Amino acid sequence: MYVCVCNAVTEQDIFNAVAEGCASLRQLREQLGVGACCGRCTGCARDMLKSSLHAQAPAYRFTAAGAQRAAA
Ligand code: FES
Repeated sequence: MYVCVCNAVTEQDIFNAVAEGCASLRQLREQLGVGACCGRCTGCARDMLKSSLHAQAPAYRFTAAGAQRAAA
């Protein structure tokens, strides 16, 4: 399913970006362009980011500042 129609970004693209180290909406925007045009996808992208981070939770630790990739 497309999350960002403007930039043809799918759920799988977001999941893969998280697997490669993206841990914030800003990083998703920089890497994939999510929310960089009309911005209508921002809420859905944020939800996808959260679910992807939780699905890959062992690779991340959650702090007050947000998700950070855990050391190997
Ligand atoms: S749908 Fe994502 S920027 Fe327009």
